[in-house]
Amino acid sequence: MIEIHEVTKKFKDKKVHVTALKHVSFTVQKGQVVGLLGENGAGKTTLLRTIATLLVPTEGHVTVAEYDSVKQATEVKKRIGVLFGGETGLYNRLTARENLEYFATLYGLSKHETKVRIDDLAKMFGMRDYLNRKVGDFSKGMRQKVAIARTLIHNPDIILFDEPTTGLDITSSNVFRQLVHQLKRDGKTIIFSSHIMEEVSMLCDSVAMMHKGELVYHGAIEELYKSEGSKDLNYIFTSKLVRGNDEYAS
Ligand SMILES: Nc1ncnc2c1ncn2[C@@H]1O[C@H](COP(=O)(O)OP(=O)(O)O)[C@@H](O)[C@H]1O
Ligand SMILES: [Mg+2]
Repeated sequence: MIEIHEVTKKFKDKKVHVTALKHVSFTVQKGQVVGLLGENGAGKTTLLRTIATLLVPTEGHVTVAEYDSVKQATEVKKRIGVLFGGETGLYNRLTARENLEYFATLYGLSKHETKVRIDDLAKMFGMRDYLNRKVGDFSKGMRQKVAIARTLIHNPDIILFDEPTTGLDITSSNVFRQLVHQLKRDGKTIIFSSHIMEEVSMLCDSVAMMHKGELVYHGAIEELYKSEGSKDLNYIFTSKLVRGNDEYAS
């Protein structure tokens, strides 16, 4: 479903070159939930932005449902929903429904499609009671649901969440977790970045661990537990970083 092939991304920041991604390669199958782990600056956001067609790789390429993220970006965009942490992208003065209608228009949905889709999402996420209230008055958990509904308005097969629960309280984090379970049941392919190990071990089938722009591990979470002889993802992650990339590359 998603193929990341030898992707390198370099930024030029005031004449200083930063290599945010170094020859990153891995594949995500349809219906998988992948946890993207890494410290601050590891390259998680850069990778998600690249998959989402918002950045062009310096080297290598990404294909989504066999479409190239650069040459066929429009096709890729249709199939992807993205939510970047911290920002909900919602308009406080509009109601939940109006917000969703607005984003539906951006994706070119017809009036009828929009109505059906909003009804489905409201039902799925338990938002029917407050669809017609202004988002500005919502709790964080309610906003979170609307923000996620917004990313799903065009019914994408692939969903990318960048640190979706960072800074959220427990209730809102739980909202996110429940929604991921639901999306997984619907066969969606999901990649989300997080530094909350518990969340990753609860929700993911596989993990991709990044360190300083390099992929230090990618594989099934159960395999990882087996090979490391531990189910403590925090411990595994730290020890992987200490051992570096050598072992994985060999
Ligand atoms: N637009 C940019 N210009 C210059 N450097 C950037 C830009 N975006 C990210 N970087 C750098 O790339 C590296 C990876 O950043 P990022 O992908 O945001 O990491 P993460 O999301 O894992 O915290 C960091 O060193 C960061 O400073
Ligand atoms: Mg980030």
